[in-house]
Amino acid sequence: MAGSAEYGLGEFVFPRGWFMVARSADLGNEPMPLHMFGRELALYRGESGQPYLLDAYCPHMKAHLAAEQTSSEGAGRIEGEFIRCPYHWWRFGPDGRCNAIPYFEGDIPAAAKVRAYPTQERFGCIFAWHDPEELAPDFDLPDVPEWDDAAWFTCEWDDLGTLDVHPQEITDNLVDTRHFGPIYGQRIVYFESVFEGVKGWQYSGGGHETMVASDEGVMAVDACYQGPGLLVARYSGETDAVQMIFHTPKDDGVTQVWHGLITRAKTTPPTTDDVAVNQQYHDVGLAAFSQDFAIWQSKAPAVQILRMPGDGPFHRCRAWYRQFYNPRAQAAEYQARADGSHETQGIAIRPALAAE
Ligand code: FES
Ligand SMILES: [Fe+2]
Repeated sequence: MAGSAEYGLGEFVFPRGWFMVARSADLGNEPMPLHMFGRELALYRGESGQPYLLDAYCPHMKAHLAAEQTSSEGAGRIEGEFIRCPYHWWRFGPDGRCNAIPYFEGDIPAAAKVRAYPTQERFGCIFAWHDPEELAPDFDLPDVPEWDDAAWFTCEWDDLGTLDVHPQEITDNLVDTRHFGPIYGQRIVYFESVFEGVKGWQYSGGGHETMVASDEGVMAVDACYQGPGLLVARYSGETDAVQMIFHTPKDDGVTQVWHGLITRAKTTPPTTDDVAVNQQYHDVGLAAFSQDFAIWQSKAPAVQILRMPGDGPFHRCRAWYRQFYNPRAQAAEYQARADGSHETQGIAIRPALAAE
């Protein structure tokens, strides 16, 4: 296991960006303890249903804000959008500030606060904005309009647990042209890597052993990282599919991973056949990703890649990834080292662009 410093990522151990922190289904009305970004955190829902994420340790005497509270007094620790600390009942808001102490009437000191993280809940997931500089988000979550489209299925999210692997190794996958054959049994017809700002795309096309291809026998995949932790891949072939792989650093060199996959039903309302195809796609998508997972579980850190001319543009991808580990004032420098379209020597780029 190697950490951010060994990969030479930059000033910060944990990156800036939107990260998945829980599945919506995992968070009920009880506060939930979490460990992410090397920190203890407390996730809770206000009465409106909106999720909030705070640093866990109460500034009073360091009780964990999401610790279990079993006494009858402890019922109702969520008040509106506020949460009570289980120990002495100090009350905190979504901004992390203490706004009520049951036995004290005066001005609450400014130090009575915990760090608060912006949150959003979309497509069955709860996301938090992590920023070492503690600034407001400077980019958005990816759009997945398919999730809210009645013609598409939604899915249960697979919690794949944690890997003792730095997320650097997971994001390398985006430009790793040469693992498609050995890992997925896929014959690559074209492959192109494109970086622009906080986004990194992989455009690839090829025949797939298991997923159903179009008439031309080519399944097109447009996969895009928006920020360092959220990958949305769109497959078009006989059945359109969206695969989402979200990963979050838990500790330095330890990563939590979730997977989801949805397809478009051929008929509305979906037939049992559509349901079966959706399930089949999910299973195949998960099985394919599990093969990457198995490699990660057993590999040593590729702190340096012995990169050959026919390998994918790992150096571009790593430069792009570093923007999230350095002050945002420097992001443009890293982006400039990655931005643009990059080919893998010996493999065609996207047909539409090649024709231009
Ligand atoms: S430790 Fe939280 S209120 Fe005392
Ligand atoms: Fe992969």
